[in-house]
Amino acid sequence: MDNYLWWRDGVIYQIYPRSFADSNGDGLGDLPGIISRLDYLADLGVDGLWLSPIYPSPDKDFGYDVSDYCNVDPRYGSLADFDRLVAEAHALGLHLIMDMVMNHTSDQHAWFQESRSSQDNPKRAWYIWRDQPNNWQASFGGNAWEFDQATGQYYLHLFTKEQPDVNWRHPAVRQAQLEAFRFWMERGVDGFRLDVFNAYFKNPDLPDNPTKFGLRGFDRQRHIHDMDQPEILPLLNELRALLDSYPERYSVGETYLATPQKTVSYCGPDKLHAAFSFDFTSNDLNYPWNPGWIMQQIARREQTFNAAGVWPTSVMSNHDLPRAASRYCKGEEDAQARIAMALLLTLRGTPFMYYGEEIGMRDISLRRSEILDPPGRRYWPIYKGRDGCRAPMQWDASKNAGFSTARPWLPVHPDALQRNVTAQQANPDSLFHFTRKLLALRKAQPALRQGDYIPLEARPGTLAYLRRVPEQTVLLAINFKGRPAAFTPPDGKWQVLLSSQADPKDPAAALAPHEVRLLIKEE
Ligand code: GLC
Repeated sequence: MDNYLWWRDGVIYQIYPRSFADSNGDGLGDLPGIISRLDYLADLGVDGLWLSPIYPSPDKDFGYDVSDYCNVDPRYGSLADFDRLVAEAHALGLHLIMDMVMNHTSDQHAWFQESRSSQDNPKRAWYIWRDQPNNWQASFGGNAWEFDQATGQYYLHLFTKEQPDVNWRHPAVRQAQLEAFRFWMERGVDGFRLDVFNAYFKNPDLPDNPTKFGLRGFDRQRHIHDMDQPEILPLLNELRALLDSYPERYSVGETYLATPQKTVSYCGPDKLHAAFSFDFTSNDLNYPWNPGWIMQQIARREQTFNAAGVWPTSVMSNHDLPRAASRYCKGEEDAQARIAMALLLTLRGTPFMYYGEEIGMRDISLRRSEILDPPGRRYWPIYKGRDGCRAPMQWDASKNAGFSTARPWLPVHPDALQRNVTAQQANPDSLFHFTRKLLALRKAQPALRQGDYIPLEARPGTLAYLRRVPEQTVLLAINFKGRPAAFTPPDGKWQVLLSSQADPKDPAAALAPHEVRLLIKEE
């Protein structure tokens, strides 16, 4: 394949390690579990794996509260297991991305333990301490300042109170954090996902945020002082220089409160390689999953990313959101999940697939007493938290869906008896096979990877676009509705590449209900 670059042309698969595969029967997934499934991932056809945090953590935010950046939580395995994971992944052509959670540490991190030990401890200034709080709110609820009895000051935490924000303005913090990147690159890691990187720097004067209308305290503020400060840019330059001192390393940022404009401002040859803009995800109840709105979103991001010369990323699901299949599908019917998958894998940009998305896993529903996620516990029933999309991977129809021999940390979805990897592998019409075929087509057809995006005029209920390189054009047409829809491809000699319907037919035939059709024209 000509100049194939794994992070640009390939597909990245997000693993939530707690929920992927448990090798030692403690109900939690682990690194040896992931290693045992690498063949599966290579066969599926993805190019990179993003591991949600595997560092030692008291799990107040399930790994996103790190107590040691340069180690593996013993429940997930050891550094030796990690080295084996890197080696075995690389042997299969899979790249590995770590999740760097560096806006805050755990309150159990040695740095914070020292910082809170006294006002004149040398690490005091590694965190953000003040005599008086301002009006800032924590994203997971409540005031962003916690009073520390022992030393008589407040510390800042934009998430839970067990996640104190570090002071990135302190040169020693900056150096220590950059060392952690180096530590993992030395172990062979290929890249990083940066958790809420655009909140690293706060306005040094800590002024109050202006207020606005919103439901929760956090939403009732305009976040102009607690994130997106100019000092992040020189840091990204420095980080990029560090990454570029190793061959072919990658960085993708989780832009907090993302818009395409904000996202592209952090990307470029001397900044991040990419950042999320979350154009097709939302927690909103009335998320408008219809062709008109989707085409508008695509146009919006195409314009912004093209103008900035930045390569986009595509996301339908992740560990913070209700899964796309839960948002758009009715019951166990997978038609809309196929549509979401087709968009994910044919839009211009790097697709990020979330574990289980390839088999259309749905969110689990929990009783209030079962909820573990901090914002869910706080805001139930307005917001039930993120446990739903973090349920154990559904491997087969055995007990605990083949995830573990023990009771898993979160319940297995009751549909696992029918909806699992083994069952879908045996069924050529399954979402699994549809996904696998699409992944293979992306690899085979340059237009799908690198082609320009050209929208086609759509009829109500349908969507169509082209992806074009000089030597070939691929056309995607989708019928969102449950009745047939007329369809006429542009002039030319088209061939069917793939259809979600059983038998490939005439490229210009009417679209069947919910059909996804891919056509190709060679120039
Ligand atoms: C990011 C993560 C989320 C985590 C939060 C705090 O948004 O994706 O899971 O809770 O940061 O680290």
